[in-house]
Amino acid sequence: MQRGYTVRAIPMTVATRALRLATFLSLGLTAAAAGQSEASEDTGPADDPAVPAVNPTPYTQAAEKRGRTHYLRHCQICHGFDGRALENIDFEATDLTDPERWRFGTTDGDLFRSTKYGAGLDMPPFEAELDDAEIWELVHYLRSLGPEEYRAAAEPENPP
Ligand code: HEC
Repeated sequence: MQRGYTVRAIPMTVATRALRLATFLSLGLTAAAAGQSEASEDTGPADDPAVPAVNPTPYTQAAEKRGRTHYLRHCQICHGFDGRALENIDFEATDLTDPERWRFGTTDGDLFRSTKYGAGLDMPPFEAELDDAEIWELVHYLRSLGPEEYRAAAEPENPP
């Protein structure tokens, strides 16, 4: 019995990973068989015309810092501590430091919509966890991760 326990302990992890992979693959196959895989993968965030293209919350270091707190609490689990995304067997979260690779737009409003309503198949909506003001703070923080030229144009030299 002792031996059986030791032998079974290791394959469990492999089996769990294999099961997750199998589920992931079969979901993909089912969608492909239904002829829907293309459409669902390209589903962007909900089109909310009320969302402005430019962040309505003025940039301050304090706002960016609060955004960082939201990020560490809600986002780093998939996008990684530095925004570069973690390896995951089920899906690949977007590298948030590289706007060239974003699929759902690069304006403040696009980031807001992806966060509030979710994006693609695996980016969950945060409507219930974060209010609009918190998401705009988060957008300031996301800008700080990426290259200089994508940061808020109106960013003052010495923000309060
Ligand atoms: C459960 C894992 C998970 C969590 C948690 C998560 N994301 Fe994502 N996110 C993803 C995945 C996966 C994608 C890629 C979706 C796609 O391209 O199909 C994504 C995509 C995005 C995009 C769209 C990028 C583009 O291509 O336009 C943004 C913006 C984003 N995430 C921001 C955030 C923010 C901000 C948070 C925290 C509030 C967050 N994410 C939390 C998994 C996650």
